[in-house]
Amino acid sequence: MDDWDAILDLARWYPSPHNSQPLRVRVRDARTAELAYDLDRGLPAEALGAAFGHVCAGVFVEAAAVAAAARGLDLRAELLPDPLHFGEPGVRRQHLGTLTLVPGAAAGPADPDPELLLRRRTSRLAYDDRPVPPPALVDAAAAAAAGGHRLRATADRALVRAVLDLNQRTLFDDLADDAVRAEIRAWTRTTEAAARRTGDGLSARCLGVPGPVLGGFLAAHRLWSTPVLGPVARAVYRRTLRGVPQVGWLTGAFDTPADHVAAGRALLRLWLVLTAHGVWLHPFGSVITNPRAHRAFAELVGEDERDGMAWMLFRLGTGPVPPRSHRRPLTDLTG
Ligand SMILES: Cc1cc2nc3c(=O)[nH]c(=O)nc-3n(C[C@H](O)[C@H](O)[C@H](O)COP(=O)(O)O)c2cc1C
Repeated sequence: MDDWDAILDLARWYPSPHNSQPLRVRVRDARTAELAYDLDRGLPAEALGAAFGHVCAGVFVEAAAVAAAARGLDLRAELLPDPLHFGEPGVRRQHLGTLTLVPGAAAGPADPDPELLLRRRTSRLAYDDRPVPPPALVDAAAAAAAGGHRLRATADRALVRAVLDLNQRTLFDDLADDAVRAEIRAWTRTTEAAARRTGDGLSARCLGVPGPVLGGFLAAHRLWSTPVLGPVARAVYRRTLRGVPQVGWLTGAFDTPADHVAAGRALLRLWLVLTAHGVWLHPFGSVITNPRAHRAFAELVGEDERDGMAWMLFRLGTGPVPPRSHRRPLTDLTG
């Protein structure tokens, strides 16, 4: 395998919202490649959809940089300052910039083990209620700080419960929005066969909800919002959120596409550090992208956001190994 193949084959396990895997790489030669964003795989219905597109680009670039470092290479990313243009007719792929491999220092103990790219997962399972080991939080905060972001976390039971409640309300609130629901539905795979065939999307298995329940819920959403069935749907979801000892959030610069890319890079580094400590994470991105929920969240945790936006929220903890989500083949990433 040449360098690019080896690097991209690991980087393709990067996490992306709804597992839509929107990044594309066109390899030019042994040292340079063009990075692009497949606009058909973005999430334009959500507020901050374009910002999170760039966060996802940052996550991908960091994954590729970690894989490159393990081969003694530095990955340089020169990205354009433009926002994503979801609305532009006819344009389905947006050029983001150039990636270059240059000889770097030999991989050392400070470099993350590239195997972590494969071990990292989103865990939407119930956690085991054990406190997150303090060294994991210290190391995660250091990883975030190295990328210019601040990690804050709370283990206060009432506050954790209030944040989980807010996340649940937001999810059901978002599902009541026709455009957002249609977007979520398009990326939901209610059978394992469909998840395997497409190699992308949110599978029922990874969401921890039986496929027929998930499919029925999305198809007949109004029925499930009635006073009788609404509480049933909420209880099914709520069961997956048991045993959560802690929630955490990231604050920092989040104004320009360059900020969003840097934020994504910090997120992946933090996620890998937590993975190395055996701690799972589950982003609550919808609390951030839903403006009403965002305000409620900032108020709950006393975050005045004067020193940067609280742009990512997650639950974290230990527990069983979650299922691995699918990925599309390398030829798709580079196609
Ligand atoms: C920027 C970002 C935001 C995300 N937001 C959410 C979210 O709101 N809810 C959720 O369940 N998963 C969220 N995820 C997790 C993705 O759905 C997940 O990474 C993807 O399905 C691939 O699964 P994996 O992380 O197990 O590899 C988010 C991921 C990223 C990178």
